[in-house]
Order: sequence, then structure tokens, then C-alpha cells
Amino acid sequence: MMAAYDPKPFSGTMTVFPAPAGSAMVRTADPPDPLVPCPLLAALFPAGGVVGAALHRPGDPQWLLPEEREHMRQAVAKRVQEFAAGRHCARAALRHLGVIDPPLPVNDDRTPRWPPGVVGSISHTEGYCGAVVAHARQVRGIGIDAEVASRVPEQFRDRICTREELTWIDALPRERRADGLALAFAAKEAAYKCQFPITGNWLDFRDVAVTPDDAALGGMSFSLRLVGQQKPAPQFPTTGRFVLAGRLVLAGVMWMPPPLHAGGAR
Ligand SMILES: CC(C)(COP(=O)(O)OP(=O)(O)OC[C@H]1O[C@@H](n2cnc3c(N)ncnc32)[C@H](O)[C@@H]1OP(=O)(O)O)[C@@H](O)C(=O)NCCC(=O)NCCS
Repeated sequence: MMAAYDPKPFSGTMTVFPAPAGSAMVRTADPPDPLVPCPLLAALFPAGGVVGAALHRPGDPQWLLPEEREHMRQAVAKRVQEFAAGRHCARAALRHLGVIDPPLPVNDDRTPRWPPGVVGSISHTEGYCGAVVAHARQVRGIGIDAEVASRVPEQFRDRICTREELTWIDALPRERRADGLALAFAAKEAAYKCQFPITGNWLDFRDVAVTPDDAALGGMSFSLRLVGQQKPAPQFPTTGRFVLAGRLVLAGVMWMPPPLHAGGAR
């Protein structure tokens, strides 16, 4: 599973956080920390106090807390590993917000149940798992998605993309088109995950139009538009950011809180 993805670009600094003194909740035999703060995830969210953590290997089921393990009772081993990797990354990132090792159970709609006052998002793909978290007072919603470019099936492009997206993807050099398709896909998934906990709306892939700000994919930002039947909610995000790192495509979308009025009320 790991062999297919080269983690070289990520072998940066690993920060290991000491357990806060006197915290009864910190386990003594902590599993190895993921990369925190993850530079790629940080690049997706330059604002909002977002913390990201990433792991470049499968998770260990032993990292799960009892209520999380219960949710994985019927799951196959690969799913348990990715679920454990996501919980592990999320907890590592949460420590940076001062939230120490909370259980992160699964809501009925399959979203993670974040601790009060926190928003977050998790994504896993072959050889990579990432999680981002932020204080809800700073960020209303957040979504990330990670894809290995070559694994977004070309034959689904007409189901994933709007006509306009196919135009900018086809204008890319042939060897960049898989990146373009993966970017469109990841940006839509990130937007979906960002908005769902707020609106509860299910979106079809072709309800959202993604346009990279640099048509040659040289930049790191894209614009987002709701183009299907969906009416945009106020402040629905209109931009997102992405990173292309080797075979990995990461996309992030953030929904900011409404601006403060002069009187300070929201
Ligand atoms: C939920 C969904 C977006 C997950 O994406 P994915 O690429 O399959 O998988 P990822 O690994 O990136 O993300 C999975 C994580 O997303 C989170 N998640 C699941 N459902 C979610 C939802 N409705 N909203 C936000 N996050 C969700 C969970 O943390 C999950 O990991 P976990 O189960 O280990 O906790 C996808 O399966 C889905 O249901 N899509 C349908 C709608 C859609 O994508 N429309 C197109 C967008 S416009």
C-alpha cells in the first residue's frame, strides 16, 4: 500500500509534542506523532489558525479509543487502518488547539463528532492521511481532500466535471491532465466536506464548478461556483487552495464566519 506513493517531499521537520504536565488523559505510550504542523496542509490554509497533521503510513487500530473502535466492529482491516490514521492525525492536530486526546466518534451522517468549539476535516488516500482542525470562532467550516492523481478514473471525467472544467483540463499538456482531473475532483470533495456540516446539503459533482486561477496549474488557488440546482448559502466559499506534490493532490476549502459588524455582533 505504501510502495505506490513516494513520501519524499514530506520528510521535513517532525514536531513531537510533550504531554502537558498533569494531564491525566495523555496516554504514557503514545504512538509516534504524525507530521505536525504538516507543511502541505498549512499551505492550504494560510489563515484561520488552522492546524494540520499528516501520516504517511497506515494507521494502527490500537490508536483508536473504545467508542471509535466500536464503530469499526464490522469494518475490513484496510478501513480500520485508514480510520485509525485519521483519528490519530486529528488528535495530534487538536493538541495544538489545546484539546487533549478527545474521542472522535462518528455521527449518523458519517461526519466525525468534533469536540465543542472545534471544526475539522479528515481525508485519506493511498499512503497518505491528513486532518485539519480550527477553532469554530475563527473558522465556520473546513474541508480537505487528498487524491493520488493517477487514481481518479479517467472514464468518470464526464460524471465528475462540468463542460467548462473539461475545457481547461483538455487545454493542459497531456501529461498534466490527470493532475487537472484530480484537482477538479479533490476541490469538489473538499467543498462538499466543508459545507455539509453547515448546510446539510448533498451536492452532485456537477453542482460545483472549479476553475484554477492559473490555467497551467502553476498557482495554488481555485475558484468555486455552485452551478446546479443548489442555491448558494450566504458566505458559501468561492475560493479554495490546492497543492500538487508528486502524485498527491491536496485541496482545501474554508468557510469563514460572517464579518463582525461595527457593533461587534455577528
Ligand atoms: C463523504 C465523502 C466526501 C468522502 O470523500 P472520500 O474521497 O470518499 O474519502 P476521504 O478519505 O477523502 O474522506 C473521508 C472522511 O470524510 C469525512 N466525512 C464523511 N462524510 C462526510 C460529510 N458528509 N461531510 C464532511 N466530512 C465527511 C470523514 O471524516 C471520513 O473519514 P472517516 O470516516 O475515516 O472519519 C464522499 O464519500 C461522499 O459521500 N461524496 C458524496 C458527495 C460528493 O462528493 N459530491 C461531490 C462534491 S460537489
